[in-house]
Amino acid sequence: MIGQRKDDHVRLAVEQRREHSGHNQFDEVSFLHHALAGIDRPEVSAATAFAGISWPVPLYINAMTGGSARTGAVNRELAVAARETGVPLASGSMSAYLKDPSCAETFSVLRTHNPRGFVLANVNATTTPEQAQRAVDLLRADALQIHLNSVQETVMPEGDRSFSSWAQRIGEIASAVDVPVIVKEVGFGLSRETVLALRDLGVRAADLGGRGGTDFARIENDRRGRGDHAFLAGWGLSTPACLLDAQGVDLPVLASGGVRHPLDVARALALGARAVGVSGGFLRTLTDDGLPALITQISTWLDQLAALQTVLGARTPAELTHCDLLIHGDLRSFCADRGIRTRALARRSRSARASDDPTGTAP
Ligand code: FNR
Repeated sequence: MIGQRKDDHVRLAVEQRREHSGHNQFDEVSFLHHALAGIDRPEVSAATAFAGISWPVPLYINAMTGGSARTGAVNRELAVAARETGVPLASGSMSAYLKDPSCAETFSVLRTHNPRGFVLANVNATTTPEQAQRAVDLLRADALQIHLNSVQETVMPEGDRSFSSWAQRIGEIASAVDVPVIVKEVGFGLSRETVLALRDLGVRAADLGGRGGTDFARIENDRRGRGDHAFLAGWGLSTPACLLDAQGVDLPVLASGGVRHPLDVARALALGARAVGVSGGFLRTLTDDGLPALITQISTWLDQLAALQTVLGARTPAELTHCDLLIHGDLRSFCADRGIRTRALARRSRSARASDDPTGTAP
């Protein structure tokens, strides 16, 4: 039954991606253009670091699948794409393996075909610390993701209806496993309050996993057949809203959910993400166009991201956080309600160059 669900998720996520209208709230974030800000391409590095982890690139393939023959084949190809491009790669939820070890290989292919890459294991927030360590061990994983998906569970007929134990479980796992723990949402976003709670539970980073791309309320609603949870479409915080909400929080954040192209990657990095994850978009390329096309797509994105850093004058992904950003539309109203200072974002390159203003009085 789990295997069938995993196959359904892949099929419905790809269908959703094919019909996606294209617009999302990343379009309400733009870089303020400074025509003399550019630097030279050889000065640009893609390297990023957080929570004691160093990645050569600020882009990763986020959690998707495993648990059936078909999804094992998907994982094998994702592993090859990660190996060929050097991007980190996360497993889909490993609860299928923890319930039935006979499907182990559909997950372990992530490591077999990507022996030196950075691999993240993935479990849910009801997993025991001992099970979480088993998931890490199977993949010889470098980090562990715990996913939060209360909205998805609510739409699933067979889903969980009890969520109050999650926070305690996250704390227990974080103090027990021997790799850094990252908590992620699956597309409904993490609020500032949630990120602060995760920090206090001892997790090392939060993947904000916001709205704007793959919509699991819709996927589960489609699986139900009756379509009676359509009212949940659009639930949650968009990824740029989460990034704005988390400004200044002392826990590293990663961004995923609705990332469509290299400009969205740059926008997320400029809003403070240490790295940016993609799931549905890469899965569609793999399914419709094949493995060589996915490898080309990821390589092209990395190249185009370096080109954007060159134009924007950011030697590293972290330096994108000095670029001036304009926030428009509904996202601007969100910022007003949550007390986020958009005016400061629009002129922050001045404080990065405070020494240029000896009087300290520049507006
Ligand atoms: C997912 N996602 C996911 N996340 C997770 O933590 N564990 C999982 O098992 C899965 N399974 C899964 C299957 C499929 C087919 C997709 C497309 C996605 C969620 C994923 O990691 C990500 O948070 C969301 O998909 C939002 O990102 P995109 O798709 O908009 O880039």
